[in-house]
Amino acid sequence: MQIFHFLFLHAVCFLLCASFNVNAQRKQFNISLGSSLAPTTSSSWLSRSGLYAFGFYPQGKAYAVGIFLAGIPEKTVVWTANRDDPPVSGNASLLLNTEGRLVLQSARGQETPVVAQGEVAPASYASMLDSGNFVLHNSSGGIIWQSFDHPTDTILTGQSLLNGQELVSNVSETDHSTGRFFLAMQGDGNLVQYPVEKIAVATAYWASGTVGWGADVRLSLDSDGHLYLHNSTGFSIMNLTAGIPTGRAVYFMKIDWDGIFRLYSHNLTQNNALSILWESSTDKCQPKGQCGFNSYCIVNPNQQPGCRCLPGFVYVDRENLYSGCKRNCTAERFINSHGTVIYSMQEVEINVFEDVPFPVLQKTKDECKQACLEDSICEAAPIQY
Ligand SMILES: *[C@@H]1O[C@H](CO)[C@@H](O)[C@H](O)[C@H]1NC(C)=O
Ligand SMILES: *[C@@H]1O[C@H](CO)[C@@H](O)[C@H](O)[C@H]1NC(C)=O
Ligand SMILES: *[C@@H]1O[C@H](CO)[C@@H](O)[C@H](O)[C@H]1NC(C)=O
Ligand SMILES: *[C@@H]1O[C@H](CO)[C@@H](O)[C@H](O)[C@H]1NC(C)=O
Ligand SMILES: *[C@@H]1O[C@H](CO)[C@@H](O)[C@H](O)[C@H]1NC(C)=O
Ligand SMILES: *[C@@H]1O[C@H](CO)[C@@H](O)[C@H](O)[C@H]1NC(C)=O
Ligand SMILES: *[C@@H]1O[C@H](CO)[C@@H](O)[C@H](O)[C@H]1NC(C)=O
Ligand SMILES: *[C@@H]1O[C@H](CO)[C@@H](O)[C@H](O)[C@H]1NC(C)=O
Repeated sequence: MQIFHFLFLHAVCFLLCASFNVNAQRKQFNISLGSSLAPTTSSSWLSRSGLYAFGFYPQGKAYAVGIFLAGIPEKTVVWTANRDDPPVSGNASLLLNTEGRLVLQSARGQETPVVAQGEVAPASYASMLDSGNFVLHNSSGGIIWQSFDHPTDTILTGQSLLNGQELVSNVSETDHSTGRFFLAMQGDGNLVQYPVEKIAVATAYWASGTVGWGADVRLSLDSDGHLYLHNSTGFSIMNLTAGIPTGRAVYFMKIDWDGIFRLYSHNLTQNNALSILWESSTDKCQPKGQCGFNSYCIVNPNQQPGCRCLPGFVYVDRENLYSGCKRNCTAERFINSHGTVIYSMQEVEINVFEDVPFPVLQKTKDECKQACLEDSICEAAPIQY
């Protein structure tokens, strides 16, 4: 607890020292029924220390609702409401209405629940806690809903990923909706990463290897950055990171849009510098399903994963290079000795994974070439080095 207190005091100090605009944010620890927010005026409810806020944040030219780090200049978003709904305009409002429901109201008066209504009883008040947890309470102060139980792509200090829960990546830097990868805490005790579209044992591209520990295993992040798997009686099963006992930092773990999950810290003694303390892989092309049919993953010069078409193929959708490639119909063709139309043959240097979207022939280069020439439907002959 010592570390907690120190951390938050420091965050408050930083808030006072920093020169960003807090006027638009309301310091309201207990949020009573009838309270409301608007994107451009009173845009969020701050936690007591000001480290976290619940409310509107800009998404392109519009606004989304979520929880973000308000106490540091880089407003890292850690939870998003209704992530697959389109962002709302500047004249929408967020309301904890007198019936105890949290709703997003469009300018035309249309209401969308922020918390699924069938799921919970009406709230008596809400609170934005300094842990980053946004909570709805009943009249006796009991918790009826909390954001910590419904993670999107991030877990925070004090939060756990339990059996059956998942973190799902977002689409991109500019689009927070459901992306292509997820991290699941499975009932067999294994923590596993899969592509969203193809969930099978063979498509898992990272696993903790803790099968057999049972349905009780959870992933937790402590206030010193210790990320680990344990069971409900506190038995330590696997350490992903050791933790930094002297750290004055805000830690969070996130499955990024590129399919890799990382432990980050904002170092409060070093200008809130954001750094990666641990990552599930340093190979940006490790996540399976990064690229669509007839394409393969390469690391771009900007160090981001990209997809390249096999020779003779062009992108299906130039706006989304991850969606795969199709034959370039205008490419030159020639006819082989059997009278079959074929295309020129080229070697490509790629890593062939088990889920590669085309069959892999276990042959030498020459055998492979011959096999392809004899096969009238041979499309490509990738070679593994
Ligand atoms: C918030 O409201 C609850 C219930 O009314 C009350 O018990 C608690 O003391 C309040 N907390 C603060 C910080 O006002
Ligand atoms: C709400 O804002 C949008 C654009 O921001 C504007 O087109 C629309 O007219 C506004 N609606 C009302 C009712 O003010
Ligand atoms: C409030 O919620 C708690 C559990 O979180 C429950 O035990 C309690 O009975 C509830 N109180 C009321 C008045 O509903
Ligand atoms: C946690 O693991 C320990 C060691 O295997 C075991 O003794 C304990 O019963 C487990 N707790 C639960 C709740 O399964
Ligand atoms: C993880 O680290 C903690 C603290 O250093 C240690 O007590 C625990 O035994 C470790 N767990 C494993 C599985 O190595
Ligand atoms: C923060 O920065 C200080 C000074 O460089 C360093 O000693 C400390 O280990 C850093 N903490 C974390 C959590 O990165
Ligand atoms: C999507 O996640 C990345 C981290 O993977 C983050 O940098 C980015 O801000 C997120 N995009 C949005 C629009 O929230
Ligand atoms: C597609 O084929 C045409 C005609 O051969 C060629 O000019 C063009 O560069 C090809 N496009 C790609 C992306 O290979």
